[in-house]
Amino acid sequence: MSTETPTLETPDHNAGQWVPLARIQDFAGKDRIIIRHEGKQIVVFQTDNGLHAIDNRCPHEGYPLREGTLGKADGRCVITCNWHNWKFDLTTGDNLYGGDKVRAYPVRVEGDEVLLDLTDPPPAVKQRQALDNLTDAMDDNDSERLFREVARLERAGADPMDAIRHGIRMTFDKLEFGFGHAYAAAADWLAIRDRFPDSPDIRLACLVEPLAHMADDTVREETYAYPDVATEWDADAFVAAVDAEDEAAATGHLRAGLRDGVSLDALRHVFARTGLLHYAAFGHAVIYVTKAFELIERLGAPVTEPLLLALMRHHLRARREDLIPEFRDYAGALTEMRTAAGGPLPTPEDYRSLNVKKALSLTARCGLGDPEGLFRVLLEANAWNTAAFDVSWMAKKDVKPDNSVNWLDNTHGITFSEAVLALCRRYPDLWAEGLLQMACFVGRNAAYTRPGVPGDMPAEMTEEWYPALLESMIDHGQDAFIVAAHVIKTPTAAEALRRQGFGSPILAHGVNRFLAGPLDLRQVRRTAKQALAFVALDS
Ligand code: FES
Repeated sequence: MSTETPTLETPDHNAGQWVPLARIQDFAGKDRIIIRHEGKQIVVFQTDNGLHAIDNRCPHEGYPLREGTLGKADGRCVITCNWHNWKFDLTTGDNLYGGDKVRAYPVRVEGDEVLLDLTDPPPAVKQRQALDNLTDAMDDNDSERLFREVARLERAGADPMDAIRHGIRMTFDKLEFGFGHAYAAAADWLAIRDRFPDSPDIRLACLVEPLAHMADDTVREETYAYPDVATEWDADAFVAAVDAEDEAAATGHLRAGLRDGVSLDALRHVFARTGLLHYAAFGHAVIYVTKAFELIERLGAPVTEPLLLALMRHHLRARREDLIPEFRDYAGALTEMRTAAGGPLPTPEDYRSLNVKKALSLTARCGLGDPEGLFRVLLEANAWNTAAFDVSWMAKKDVKPDNSVNWLDNTHGITFSEAVLALCRRYPDLWAEGLLQMACFVGRNAAYTRPGVPGDMPAEMTEEWYPALLESMIDHGQDAFIVAAHVIKTPTAAEALRRQGFGSPILAHGVNRFLAGPLDLRQVRRTAKQALAFVALDS
């Protein structure tokens, strides 16, 4: 695995591969000539600053730079590609306006012969240059360029995972609220990429989508540095610091744990605890734990600290919904569940139309005698709420912000459940929190369902269900990265549940309905009405 930034060597052009490719007299009456050599097309310009050679192919969309306009800027010779007005320094190939750089070749004249140095840079230099170009593309939030630069990085022989490592290391401290959908979706995109070993376009798309999302999330953001402190590892103290929103203390414990080699499993356990400490952030706090550790296991040490710092910040800053009235019964239900004698499990139908308070009460009374049995019931109840979601709520104009729901909110009942299963099977001490928070989702989503489930329910959730969706998931056509992330993560979570024996027709049907949309989230008139009503009450 190549994780280190390659050392940038200075090419020794005196020792290069100088090839005579033209004669001075070829320029008679011309300020540019085209040279064709071993599949390359190089344009050589004659300027009052001497000869300059660059690739003829514009690195943007491939139009010929020989058709460009020569000029000067700050004493430099510049070629402008007239298709989209990109400008290149003829000496270095640097892009002065636009995006990608063009390759420039050293030129010298001996007698009347024009020689070009065609020496290819060593792979390590090419890889370093490709990573530098990737940085530029990320900084510019230029997703089209990202496709080209990641393709160039792979072509330079780099480990393609270096692109993702680089993206994470570039962005983790530009996230004011920590870990977000871009990282979470990256774990799913990379897993999907594994399924297509023979499809270069899909494999590239699966790398670039999460990078473009990271760039979009952090464009024009300042750096929100994490405290540079390492104290001592203490899991309970870390949890307390996160709960107290004390980033300095939490960072000190975390950095010390990483310094002291605390195992990934111990770290995942403590993050599962902080993620489930509250019913928080619409379940993201828990979903992100599973995705962070999937990424760490795949990408290794270079991303461990960045991802865990970002995850810690997300847990610190997450809104704690169990502290607002709708979910305030959560704390009492947690106490009750841990001591309840238990009894027969309810059915998914028993949860129909229950509000959060009643869903919590029903769940707590079950106790912890059969957590996986109760998990199955709650998963089915959540899946029913997705399958029966009343999409008319998405278009309502006269609703309060709390009732401005959409498909993305609804799907968290499923993605959160999958994360609960993954974490609580590893750490059974957390079942009570996981199950009760699933009940919170059941109660909150039930309010936005219709009486029956529309559409044709599949007879079963087969192992062909997910593979049949993949190509349309990848080619999602969504402008908003957050929507694309949900299109990726929701079926992926459902498939993970199926593989573990929790698939069902209602689960497949709910996800199918979500994918069919509508997925347009912006409701400008509703937002305008809410703003007007709110501002009218300002003092
Ligand atoms: S093709 Fe040259 S700038 Fe677009």
